[in-house]
Amino acid sequence: MVISGGIAAYKCPELVRRLRERKASVRCVMTRAAEEFVTPLTLSALSENPVHRNMFSLTENNDISHIQLSREADVLVVAPATANLLAKMANGIADDLASTILLATSAPIMVAPAMNVRMWDHEATRENMETLRARGVSQLGPNEGDMACGEFGFGRMAEVDEIVTALEDFFEGGVRLSGRRALVTSGPTHEPIDPVRYIANRSSGKQGHAIAAALAGLGAQTTLVTGPTDQADPPGVTVVRIESAAQMLAACQAALPADIAVCAAAVADWRAAETATRKIKKTDDNPPAIELTRNPDILATLAVAGPDRPKLVIGFAAETENVVENAVAKRAAKGCDWIVANDVSSQTGTFGGDSNRVHFITPDVEDWPRMSKREVATQLAARIADALEGGS
Ligand code: CTP
Repeated sequence: MVISGGIAAYKCPELVRRLRERKASVRCVMTRAAEEFVTPLTLSALSENPVHRNMFSLTENNDISHIQLSREADVLVVAPATANLLAKMANGIADDLASTILLATSAPIMVAPAMNVRMWDHEATRENMETLRARGVSQLGPNEGDMACGEFGFGRMAEVDEIVTALEDFFEGGVRLSGRRALVTSGPTHEPIDPVRYIANRSSGKQGHAIAAALAGLGAQTTLVTGPTDQADPPGVTVVRIESAAQMLAACQAALPADIAVCAAAVADWRAAETATRKIKKTDDNPPAIELTRNPDILATLAVAGPDRPKLVIGFAAETENVVENAVAKRAAKGCDWIVANDVSSQTGTFGGDSNRVHFITPDVEDWPRMSKREVATQLAARIADALEGGS
């Protein structure tokens, strides 16, 4: 475990204790700044191992070099990961024991970032985190909430429970999709009519965002292409924001190759044939007629056979009647492997709601019970992992 210098380091003794309870062997490496927040004595007492701090005094520990330290771990957890340490990791800087170990290791790395919300939002930190994710580093949190600095936002370190669960998942096969690339579409699209008006729909993006989070949670390198939504970026996911269907298609194609494509977006089927460059003014004449033209079908395009076709292409079917029948037909028409069909009639509360009742069409038809959108995402991600492990 690598502990860098943030206030959240106060949670580390508890994390070490919980890991020791689960019989994990824990070795702590601290940066100099971390010692300002938690004492090496506490961590060494709880981990029942010497704490490593200084590159050049390692011989004092007489049993282990920094290269050994970087090699013996099954997984390296960086908690808290400060903006500074993330920047060093992204740029290959090795100027102390912690950063040297992180550069020298070939073990999987999990980082739990913790910092002020503005530092987290800074383009530099975002780019560094993106680089690290692209290299396969898994990201836990940060969570949203009140911060020690008195501000509110994303930047709180993931809770000890979450880190322990992520490690349990890791050791129980939570990296089932590691080395796989996933592409997920989410949210509505906005199709401009003029500079102030657009065609849109009621999609909240909850289901698509949850699927991206679940796939990333299983270790897939995940890109989420999303239309405008209020949803927070799922941790560990590369998020590409677009507005129109044409932009969504271009972003999806730029994210290829991928092993998995899940199209959960509610893409507008139609757009204005021409977008007015000036605001359309109302007149006393008849209301203006807006000529519509078909949008590209992103799911069908991704499902076309060819070298770039993801191994698994999965669509959603939003229906208000004959749900299964229409979804079975849609699966054939779009050429995708699976369809997740849901009833979006207003009385079901699916659009914008937190739960979903879906029919899973593979082509077998499974009726899944009503469950939270997060749970649908978890189940779907597990089925994707099953299918890819089975080589289908
Ligand atoms: N989809 C897409 N691009 C489009 C339209 C739909 O990628 N231009 C995808 C959706 O993300 C979803 C699936 O196709 O995975 C089904 O979308 P749905 O709206 O249910 O069906 P439509 O194709 O619009 O068909 P219909 O209008 O007949 O319901």
